[in-house]
Amino acid sequence: MFYSTIIRKAILFASLGVLCVAETYQEQYRDQYHFSPEKNWMNDPNGMLYHKGVYHLYFQYNPGGMTWGNISWGHATSNDLLHWTEQPIALEVRKDAGGNVQEYFYSGSAVVDTENTSGFGTRGHPPLVAIYTSHYAQNMTLPSGKTVVSGQESQSIAYSLDDGMTWTTYDAQNPVIHEPPTEYITADTIQNFRDPFVFWEDSQKHWTMVVSLPNDHMVLIYTSPNLKDWTKVSTFGPANAISGQWECPGLFPLPVDGDKNNVKWVLQLGSNPGGPTIGSGTQYFVGSFDGTTFTADADTVYAAVGGPAGSSVVEDWQDTSSLASSTAALNWTATGDFVGITPVTGEDKVSNVLDTYFHGDSNTGAITSEAFVIAKSFMNFRIAGGYHPYNPSTYGTPSDTETSLNLKVNGKVVRSATGQNTGTLAWQGWDVSNFANQTAVLEIADFNTGATGWGHLIVGEILFSESLAEEQKANWVDHGPDYYAAATYNGLDGYDRVAVGWANNWAYGSDIPTNPWRSSMSVMRKYSLATIDSKITLVQEPYNLAPISSTCYDKKWDTLPGSQFDLPVTGKSLDVTLAFDIVSTINSSAQEDSTMRLLVRSSKDGSHATVIGYDASTQQFFVDRTNSGDVNFAPVFPGTYSAALIPDAHGRVTLRVLVDWSLVEVFGGQGESVITAQIFPSDDNESISLSYTPGAFKNVYIKVKDVASVWK
Ligand SMILES: *[C@@H]1O[C@H](CO)[C@@H](O)[C@H](O)[C@H]1NC(C)=O
Ligand SMILES: *[C@@H]1O[C@H](CO)[C@@H](O)[C@H](O)[C@H]1NC(C)=O
Ligand SMILES: *[C@@H]1O[C@H](CO)[C@@H](O)[C@H](O)[C@H]1NC(C)=O
Ligand SMILES: *[C@@H]1O[C@H](CO)[C@@H](O)[C@H](O)[C@H]1NC(C)=O
Ligand SMILES: *[C@@H]1O[C@H](CO)[C@@H](O)[C@H](O)[C@H]1NC(C)=O
Ligand SMILES: *[C@@H]1O[C@H](CO)[C@@H](O)[C@H](O)[C@H]1NC(C)=O
Ligand SMILES: *[C@@H]1O[C@H](CO)[C@@H](O)[C@H](O)[C@H]1NC(C)=O
Repeated sequence: MFYSTIIRKAILFASLGVLCVAETYQEQYRDQYHFSPEKNWMNDPNGMLYHKGVYHLYFQYNPGGMTWGNISWGHATSNDLLHWTEQPIALEVRKDAGGNVQEYFYSGSAVVDTENTSGFGTRGHPPLVAIYTSHYAQNMTLPSGKTVVSGQESQSIAYSLDDGMTWTTYDAQNPVIHEPPTEYITADTIQNFRDPFVFWEDSQKHWTMVVSLPNDHMVLIYTSPNLKDWTKVSTFGPANAISGQWECPGLFPLPVDGDKNNVKWVLQLGSNPGGPTIGSGTQYFVGSFDGTTFTADADTVYAAVGGPAGSSVVEDWQDTSSLASSTAALNWTATGDFVGITPVTGEDKVSNVLDTYFHGDSNTGAITSEAFVIAKSFMNFRIAGGYHPYNPSTYGTPSDTETSLNLKVNGKVVRSATGQNTGTLAWQGWDVSNFANQTAVLEIADFNTGATGWGHLIVGEILFSESLAEEQKANWVDHGPDYYAAATYNGLDGYDRVAVGWANNWAYGSDIPTNPWRSSMSVMRKYSLATIDSKITLVQEPYNLAPISSTCYDKKWDTLPGSQFDLPVTGKSLDVTLAFDIVSTINSSAQEDSTMRLLVRSSKDGSHATVIGYDASTQQFFVDRTNSGDVNFAPVFPGTYSAALIPDAHGRVTLRVLVDWSLVEVFGGQGESVITAQIFPSDDNESISLSYTPGAFKNVYIKVKDVASVWK
């Protein structure tokens, strides 16, 4: 049998012409220890299954192009989750005789049917079963006799009797879930019903599926005895982040703090757009699951309330006649095209907004408030419009193209917020406790002409509060822009959970400057649950990189010299650990929050770099890619992304920073906060340095590991 498998594989390889990859995978931007297909477009991970010592990774794939299209399931295998072999297409887009697409193979999952419940195999030689979304592209009567319409999404299955190498679609009955349950059928849900994740629930002895109704922000839960006949048993949602489509749900158990007698369930799902930064994002809920119903813990669901109780108004645009008026909360002064206009309009019956879309998108200028005293620790506001963040290196110059609400203290921008390229106002907020009792001004800067869309800003009421507004708050699995459609392995031992996400974003995914492939996967991540700051939190750590990494530098300082240190090592493919204690959260003579910065993929002089930093006063870490290399291929690409990270019980902050040829992943603390961001730096920018607020940090430790290529 061993022999015949080898021969069959050899024939398959020969007939499909799979290329040896040893000489490739050296292109500029080709990640060296993250999976990417040799060529062409890839998006979501699918069908992740560990079976007979092999990790299978299937993925949404265009077999013939570098943009989304002809979607099929690509396939790769690994023995260690590090080194991958690309395999022939597993499920290939179906076309009619005229070459027109009939059926795309959208995202889904795979299981080993150990008990042969499906009848596709035998107990001794169990079938693998893949469960996926059929996206039909024509009105058709299928071989099963079922009729479908163009654009319809239904759930189908396929099986493999050769351990996942070749697949047979179950044409006798596909799709096995033709449409959503009657009570959820609408013109929209016929076309938006997708991404089944299936697992065996041993306590109930049945299969469980979570599948999403994207525009209803709802996950449906089904059960089945045999993977063919499915019954809807419960629903979850809407909850938390709901401004985008819900996609790619997953549901899995994890022990809390390693205690197998205290197991919680995690529901993870993608939201696109409406992620934490721009475009796509991944959120989760912690709760319980009784075999049919998922119930989220109360502290993981946030009420869709407005500004926190007890807030006071800074500005609510109640006067619509003039910016400078005795009935406006503040007096505002306009410059540029905004001189002499009244950009305040009634948004709805109860509130007014300031909208810089005035005589069109092309107008530019600034609208600045009179000075006021920062009276509370937080400022909250509703904001919408263009995503063009404040950029310190262009601010105030003719090349400034921001659309931002800026808070300025002593003439310096100390906080900034921008829109999400939508017209829907959403709450954002700032921690301004560092500037309590100081004099500040607000500036609405619109220097964007709208040549690339959404060149204006919309600002609703602005409040002083004692906490951040909770609307749209979510538990983000990753606070960066590039971790989407995350999925986890079936078939691992016990409670082991390894996840991977598509390291890209629908907001610019088709524009990234890689060639001849597009998109990498994130690093494989081990998931667990830990109690952090008295809350049960998803914690992530990179799956074992030890076999491919070696320490090339480490150093400790009791106190750091000066404000800057160049490391005597360089590299493009790294695993860096940086840890420090905080001495003070602000150095008033330095006039900034105390900040520690690690520059990677940096030019020698530090003028071009990806900056990973920690702001001690806001207790946030960040990744700034505004000056990381090629950022101009899409207007929404450059940006700075931040996430809360509270120092540990000993007051220590730890950042683990993975750097690859076009990707940065930062794991804060134990991994309770993560930021993933693609970067496209110049090949020769390999320097590493630290830059920091003088006197603010002590007991600083850095360790740099070189990570070897998995493609050699
Ligand atoms: C899909 O495949 C056909 C060839 O079968 C090709 O002509 C077409 O350009 C492909 N579409 C995309 C978007 O790649
Ligand atoms: C697996 O299922 C098929 C179809 O029901 C059946 O013919 C076969 O005997 C089963 N094998 C075992 C070992 O259960
Ligand atoms: C497909 O079916 C739908 C619904 O019956 C109908 O509205 C549409 O015109 C059909 N499209 C084609 C191309 O026949
Ligand atoms: C705004 O400015 C005008 C003109 O200088 C002044 O009369 C008015 O009192 C100011 N309003 C406030 C709220 O300060
Ligand atoms: C700001 O001023 C108030 C009132 O004078 C005072 O109670 C508070 O401690 C001050 N806050 C800071 C951070 O100085
Ligand atoms: C680094 O990148 C910048 C910008 O692309 C480039 O000008 C510079 O030559 C590169 N190399 C070094 C060693 O700084
Ligand atoms: C604050 O920063 C200045 C430089 O901006 C530095 O000279 C001074 O030593 C720092 N203060 C402390 C307490 O370290």
